[in-house]
Amino acid sequence: MSEPHVPCCYHVHVLLQIHDLKIEFPAGPRPLTAVRNIDFEVERGQVLGLVGESGSGKSVTSLAIMRLLPPQASASGEIHFNGVGPQNLLTLESESMRQLRGSKISMIFQEPMTALNPVMRVGEQIAEAVRAHDSVSRKESWNRAVEALKEAAIPDPVTRARDYPHQLSGGMRQRVMIAMAIVNRPELLIADEPTTALDVTIQAQILDLLAELRRKFGLAMLFISHDLAVVSKVADRVAVMYAGSLVEIGPRDEIFRAPAHPYTCGLLRSVPTLATPRERPLATIEGTVPPLHAVPTGCPFEPRCGYRIPECARALPPLIEVTPGHQARCPVVNRT
Ligand SMILES: Nc1ncnc2c1ncn2[C@@H]1O[C@H](COP(=O)(O)OP(=O)(O)O)[C@@H](O)[C@H]1O
Ligand code: SF4
Ligand SMILES: [Mg+2]
Repeated sequence: MSEPHVPCCYHVHVLLQIHDLKIEFPAGPRPLTAVRNIDFEVERGQVLGLVGESGSGKSVTSLAIMRLLPPQASASGEIHFNGVGPQNLLTLESESMRQLRGSKISMIFQEPMTALNPVMRVGEQIAEAVRAHDSVSRKESWNRAVEALKEAAIPDPVTRARDYPHQLSGGMRQRVMIAMAIVNRPELLIADEPTTALDVTIQAQILDLLAELRRKFGLAMLFISHDLAVVSKVADRVAVMYAGSLVEIGPRDEIFRAPAHPYTCGLLRSVPTLATPRERPLATIEGTVPPLHAVPTGCPFEPRCGYRIPECARALPPLIEVTPGHQARCPVVNRT
């Protein structure tokens, strides 16, 4: 029998706790399951990297935390955020959720242009975010916006605050989004592929900025990326998703040094390192990620796995402890 679930408001170190999250989209007679059996925690001040190929369910998981899933989606399970008591965010009343969003929990996305209003000065957009959570004057909210732009390392923030989004480069727009995300001093920042649309140099600068803000404000982060190399730079712990399931989670160094799940092992073999000989082609995982309507009932990786045994196809395997704090959803490799 599984352990009874204890909400994170009873653990001082745990900030966010997700238990048994399932997200479905209606599609004909049977809904499509985008994610199932998602369990993880983010501790205060910690960065959890959520990694997985496109379509594995990273964004829908983060949108469920913010309660920003499209209206046709249905989510079940439990999401607890320390600071709002034992309530489940999935059923929290809309007004309480609105207060939480953009204050204690904030989010940045891959494409800042879609989140910014093109006809409003960036400073005013940030000032508006301040006033949405705090009854301060326009002047005070503007000053805080300029201060946040400065914290996001935007040169000449007083002038830039008066710019419209199209006057800024992609990197600067992402800094504006970061300024907006931190202006109300959140405890948790959800960053969904925040550097994917940027070139490598700007990407490195944004990662440095996030690391600095984390240090400065003790910010916890759920850092989402399809790119293992990027996740390895920022995360303390890493969670790996495959076809809607969380297949492995553990301390970053252990996941990279001693991965336990066959999918994580394959994923790591397909990432070049300095030690990879140039003449040797990179390993690939045979087969392809199943589309949502064809995800197996059992282990989602079963059709592609070289270690499979008949029982793998029967039911989704549980997360099994490999070492303390390191779990993998594969009973077979853990047995050997
Ligand atoms: N609005 C939607 N309607 C139907 N299916 C969706 C919708 N949004 C996402 N999905 C499906 O949910 C799955 C997970 O998507 P997503 O979380 O965006 O993946 P990721 O962020 O890991 O690339 C995908 O198969 C995607 O097609
Ligand atoms: S549970 Fe079975 S199919 Fe899935 S990864 Fe482990 S060995 Fe492979
Ligand atoms: Mg995504």
